[in-house]
Amino acid sequence: MSEFARHRRLRSSTGLRKMVRETTLSVNDLIYPLFVVEGENIKKEIPSMPGVYHFSLDLLPAEIQEIKELGIPSIILFGIPDEKDAVGGQAYHQHGVVQEAIRVVKKIAPELVVIADTCLCQFTDHGHCGVVREGQILNDESLELLAQTAVSQAEAGADVIAPSNMMDGFVYAIRKGLDEAGFENVPVMSYAVKFASSFYGPFRDAAHSTPQFGDRRTYQMDPANRLEALREAQADIEQGADMLIVKPAMAYMDIIREVKDQFAFPVIAYNVSGEYSMVKAAGLQGWIDERKVVLELLTGFKRAGADMILTYHSKEVAKWLGDDQNES
Ligand code: PBG
Repeated sequence: MSEFARHRRLRSSTGLRKMVRETTLSVNDLIYPLFVVEGENIKKEIPSMPGVYHFSLDLLPAEIQEIKELGIPSIILFGIPDEKDAVGGQAYHQHGVVQEAIRVVKKIAPELVVIADTCLCQFTDHGHCGVVREGQILNDESLELLAQTAVSQAEAGADVIAPSNMMDGFVYAIRKGLDEAGFENVPVMSYAVKFASSFYGPFRDAAHSTPQFGDRRTYQMDPANRLEALREAQADIEQGADMLIVKPAMAYMDIIREVKDQFAFPVIAYNVSGEYSMVKAAGLQGWIDERKVVLELLTGFKRAGADMILTYHSKEVAKWLGDDQNES
């Protein structure tokens, strides 16, 4: 018997490394976010997110085709309307940009799972995720509008509703609204644990959703809190959530693990805009090997317990996974 364990035995060849690998990344894990805008002939790169674009609906089909060919099973849609108002009317308009985008996608790719982000901040002129009165973001007054938004998205054909606005009771209100409208089979993928993070900066540039006063700390969570994250997840499950998002991902791997361990529900890691932009920028500078770093990060999210990864890197990852199945 040797005096010490020889861990290197199982690392000695590509074949052995593959056999003992505990975590694998698959194209089936990926959810790709898309930004849709009104107008025509628009495919405009978001300056702080190289490789990510605004699409007008006429140019969406080509993009959807590419996503389909890459084998990515799901997309999440974010809409940017031309007109914003105090109560986010375009969020729940029957012919809002998201509702129309859902129709376009479902028509050409019925099997692609279309997730609708359900929030008001891209649609309100003040940029907050709820109704505002005298500088306060009102909770209960916002719930009805969120339920209406979810129902209008389901009517347009959304397969999954993903409420991201962090008002208390949002899953309850949305589940009730969907059920009453006959959409009891449409699942809710809740942004159960969403931190008030500085990593959302590039998304807010992309979605024109920066709050015009104050910040989101009265509704999004304090990054320092772990037990509160578990209470949020628990509450969303009690209110009817079918899947739980933890957001952001990189600085919150411990939360992903705990949510996965505590609740028998699918968990999604949201690899947010600022995380994407940091990696992208360093990759473009040649400071890191972008491909290897991205695959390592995504493997890390899965190892932490994520069942799915919502990431702007999805298209590239799908290509890489397709390229080198023999990768060691
Ligand atoms: C809207 C919403 C945000 C993100 C997703 N949905 C922004 C925010 O809360 O300000 C962030 C996504 C990202 O950074 O990639 N409520």
